[in-house]
Amino acid sequence: MYPDRVLSGMRPTGALHLGHYYGVLKNWIQLQHEHECLFMVADWHALTTHYTEPALIEQSVWDMVTDWLAVGIDPNQSTLFIQSRVPEHAELHLLLSMMTPLGWLERMPSYKDQQDSLADRDLSTYGFLGYPLLQAADILIYRANQVPVGEDQVPHIEITREIARRFNHLYGREPGFEEKALMAVRRLGNKKSRLYLELRTRYTEQGDDEALEAARALLADTQNLTVADRERVFGYLEGSGKMILAEPQARLTQASRLLGLDGQKMSKSYGNTIALRDEPDTITRKVRTMPTDPARVRRSDPGDPGKCPVWSLHEVYSSDDTRRWVHEGCTTAGIGCLDCKQPVIDRMQAELVPVRERALALQEDPTAVRNVLADGCERARKLAQDTMRDVRDAMGLNYT
Ligand code: TRP
Ligand code: SF4
Repeated sequence: MYPDRVLSGMRPTGALHLGHYYGVLKNWIQLQHEHECLFMVADWHALTTHYTEPALIEQSVWDMVTDWLAVGIDPNQSTLFIQSRVPEHAELHLLLSMMTPLGWLERMPSYKDQQDSLADRDLSTYGFLGYPLLQAADILIYRANQVPVGEDQVPHIEITREIARRFNHLYGREPGFEEKALMAVRRLGNKKSRLYLELRTRYTEQGDDEALEAARALLADTQNLTVADRERVFGYLEGSGKMILAEPQARLTQASRLLGLDGQKMSKSYGNTIALRDEPDTITRKVRTMPTDPARVRRSDPGDPGKCPVWSLHEVYSSDDTRRWVHEGCTTAGIGCLDCKQPVIDRMQAELVPVRERALALQEDPTAVRNVLADGCERARKLAQDTMRDVRDAMGLNYT
């Protein structure tokens, strides 16, 4: 019932690298042409794990947004904002916490997994347990229906749906719902409202599904109702009350084929990254010193690209011709590993040099990034405030 709206977020915990670019940002760049998009700097989420390093987070916020802009996220098409600048997220998080069973949070796979994998941090905190709930608030406050995330985040979208459902169930019946719904029905006009009521009776008293379909179709082509009234007439029809929070869908982003320098997932914690702003010489050095198929000890030993992390870079960067050349040359020891790496270095440089230049130019002019964010925060905040008005209303917190 609401237009398509995409929301996604990224935690500011260090320099962005090629893994972010291939795994997340390319997808965002594409989506911004197709839908209304909101892209959020999840600084509170960063604090749940990095609460001892606030300076890192502060610096990373600017660096991250600079990199977003440098790779082509367009602030004229998307809304870029900082979570903590829209304090309504915290209010919704608090209100949702009242009705969220502890077990739902304790059972989230990320809760245990992260505590294990980030064993050097103390994550037995209240804030970290609430991580998925804060994420639910991020999504629900914009009534976003599409949330592009990786596989690991899917349980967070599922819990968001469950929380929305629970909220609507508990608070979806506004006071005087029936009278308000009937007023809205009257606004359909004489003929339509009579038909609507007939169909509703057939559905509610005789369970006639065709009548339900017909009533839905009738409502689908009425234009003269406000959003709130539309929801009331739909809710009154099906006996479901008013949908205050919308259930989102996860939009799965394919796992990036681009692996780190050692063949594992590219990640800062593994020290195997190429940062978007690495200098050209650094890129060359990092690729030249990458490990290769361990069987190729000497230049004359043949190798197997399937056992070599450089191959995964060719899969992303090279043409079929180049890949054939690699395969042939590697398995026959016709080329050396440095020969093999050169085309990757060239393509990576060609991709990253302009990104780095744009990022450095933006760094020279910090007010540009600040203005983009000030603008985005203001836009986001208006949307969030609209939802919070309905939420407070539903929970009896408006006191007017
Ligand atoms: N938890 C997400 C991650 O680690 C970041 C995030 C925070 C997010 N809030 C969000 C993603 C809302 C999507 C929607 O990647
Ligand atoms: Fe890897 Fe290329 Fe060396 Fe083969 S030739 S081992 S694919 S770097």
